[in-house]
Amino acid sequence: MEDIEFSFGDAMIPQQRILETAERLKPEIRNMATAISEGYESDLASLYLPDDSRMLGKVRQAIDKNLQLKPVYLIVDGIGGSNLGTIAVQEAVLGKLYNQLTTATKVLYADTVDSDGINNIITLVKPVLEKGGNIALNVISKSGTTTETIANAEVLIDLLRRHKKDYKNCVSVTSDKGSDLWNIAVREGFIVLEIPKKVGGRFSVFSPVGLFPLGLLGIDIERLLDGAKCMRDACIDTNIEKNPAVISAAIQYLHYESGKNISDLFLFANDLECLGKWCRQLMAESLGKEYNKKGEIVNIGVTPDISIGSTDLHSMAQLYLGGPYDKFTTFLSIKNSNSHINVPTLKGYSKLVNGIQGKSLESIMFAIMEGTKAAFRKGRRPFIEVKLPCKSEYSIGQFLQFKMMETIYLGYLLGVNPFDQPNVESYKEVTRKILKE
Ligand code: PA5
Repeated sequence: MEDIEFSFGDAMIPQQRILETAERLKPEIRNMATAISEGYESDLASLYLPDDSRMLGKVRQAIDKNLQLKPVYLIVDGIGGSNLGTIAVQEAVLGKLYNQLTTATKVLYADTVDSDGINNIITLVKPVLEKGGNIALNVISKSGTTTETIANAEVLIDLLRRHKKDYKNCVSVTSDKGSDLWNIAVREGFIVLEIPKKVGGRFSVFSPVGLFPLGLLGIDIERLLDGAKCMRDACIDTNIEKNPAVISAAIQYLHYESGKNISDLFLFANDLECLGKWCRQLMAESLGKEYNKKGEIVNIGVTPDISIGSTDLHSMAQLYLGGPYDKFTTFLSIKNSNSHINVPTLKGYSKLVNGIQGKSLESIMFAIMEGTKAAFRKGRRPFIEVKLPCKSEYSIGQFLQFKMMETIYLGYLLGVNPFDQPNVESYKEVTRKILKE
């Protein structure tokens, strides 16, 4: 199995400085290695997920039970860390147009409380229920108290209840064991899946949060975890020059220190857009902090940005190549697409764009990407490159794990706790108060 390729040659920072900074991460490398051997004990608990065969067994059982229902739709009800990883993997592996192309279970995402969005979901699933078909509803909330998730759950459970006597078989709940949501689910007789206490939302894609819905859609979750495990081992290598997460974190940290506080993930594959959104949340929520670990006010954070190649070259490239020197870019590309299409040789058309006739769309995309990198080099715009062999579960698992570990290392260098999100609470509290009134 081919592994992800990293290339740091255009980081535009002397190698010596990168290695000196990477050296500072050695204690955190050791912390990670220890954490893996300790299971779910520490804040680094998410690193143990790919080893947890007991958890995987329970997820498989729940998937098998749901598959017996032959659900026409799976509705994933969750938000933030509770659904972004699932959408990212689903779209990367199965494609953005999966629902239109599949004959198997389709997937719908209920996240925010957008009345029209939820109504669209109801409009799609109601006829299925009326004809006696099945719908699988997975409610995912670690805390069990997220307003949007719970509001949507109540609407959707009520819909199922009104159409199916045995609706309880269709509902599964993923939450912290003992949360109020967990307790209600147990009381109702829904399937319950546990999120290990110390695994936070944005680090939970390899827990039942991601594994259950992804497995239900036919994604090879064992391969996803194999990829994660392989990358995890590479990213705890104390031979820092060979450790991609350490080197990448060191480069991004040094650029942040010199004023490049925007990190753009430039994804040259349409189906990876939501992988970008998952990365955006991971970076923003983990590193954007008011206080550092010592309790000092720092108001620190790297601002994540996502661009799609080549679409956003027609939207953002002018800014990226001509605007302020405040950005650092990661180019992400796929070496082998799932399909191959050639531009035909239609008579007279070569006048429009010369040099594309008879070529594959992949080679045209490659040329655009090489052109973009050359322009970045010429303009002294620093970047690194990540090349995925393909959009397989294994490669995507590797990439997700790489990003989580890179974020933890960046948190260490910035001196912040990457696992909390104290400032998010301030709007949640007021929202709850307004709703009570
Ligand atoms: O990463 C996080 O911790 C957050 O994005 C949460 O996942 C999000 O707020 C949803 O929380 P919960 O799973 O408790 O409903």
